[in-house]
Amino acid sequence: MTDQIDAEGRLHHLLTLDGLPRDVLSRLLDRAQAFADGEDARGALAGKAVCTLFFEPSTRTRLSFQRAAQRLGADILNFEAASSSTTKGETARDTLKNIEAMGVQGFIVRHFADGAVAELAAAANEGAALVNAGDGRSAHPTQGLLDMLTLRQALGADFSTRTFLIVGDVKHSRVARSDLHALRTLGAGTIRVCGPASLLPDGGTLSGCEVTQDFDAALDGVDAVMMLRLQRERMVEGLVSSLDDYHRDYGLTAARLQHAATDAVVLHPGPMNRGVEITDEVADGARSLILRQVANGVAVRMAVLETLLR
Ligand code: CP
Repeated sequence: MTDQIDAEGRLHHLLTLDGLPRDVLSRLLDRAQAFADGEDARGALAGKAVCTLFFEPSTRTRLSFQRAAQRLGADILNFEAASSSTTKGETARDTLKNIEAMGVQGFIVRHFADGAVAELAAAANEGAALVNAGDGRSAHPTQGLLDMLTLRQALGADFSTRTFLIVGDVKHSRVARSDLHALRTLGAGTIRVCGPASLLPDGGTLSGCEVTQDFDAALDGVDAVMMLRLQRERMVEGLVSSLDDYHRDYGLTAARLQHAATDAVVLHPGPMNRGVEITDEVADGARSLILRQVANGVAVRMAVLETLLR
């Protein structure tokens, strides 16, 4: 796989949080906090061009990268697979190389295939920077970073005494994988993972985590509940019996949330299935940080673009 850190220890792509050193991760969060606090960075990337290269749909990630690039003074191009020459058979690699030839240095790439963004990074010119905006079920590193920034703001930077709970379709979730890597790197005290057996991954993904299928027990005393989107196609695959059953067993309701610590916070990466994995009352309630996550997404993506392209 393409190395995302060069021989001098500088980040030149952001492909995964797996193995990203704690000091690099913390520096990105510190820069993001400065941007969240309003640091003016107009002109930081003047003369640079960034392209959002998305082969899968997105609302939050694509638009917040565009907003981040605007706030840094970069030119921003938007590629949409459905209206592009990929519909005529052009490959993702050729697409990248053609946009590079137009003088673009930064690529924000979302792709349905695991490892696709790393493959494109290996094909890119020296000096180009690629950011993984979500590949298959592997990684969504800027979502992991914005989740950590949101948790740090709510709970403080010391995660060592805190208990974090990730709930839902962990097996197919790139968000969960990036969150797990980041929580471990930042020294989370306890990480719990909860979901139906059919939606929990095998192997080392959950190493060091407390794993349970009992949501009420899992919630006991937690400081943060990180809900995941139920990917509805999992019902078609027979991994979930019905939306009603899923809501009964794994839906976060206000009553359930009372099992958590009194000041526990609730996160969800979006898009939400309201009434399935989370109720309106919780999603829109006082403990929900869901829109704070979205706001932090702009700040985190500014920090990433600044780090990679300046
Ligand atoms: N959280 C997230 O990745 O949302 P989008 O799919 O809308 O970008």
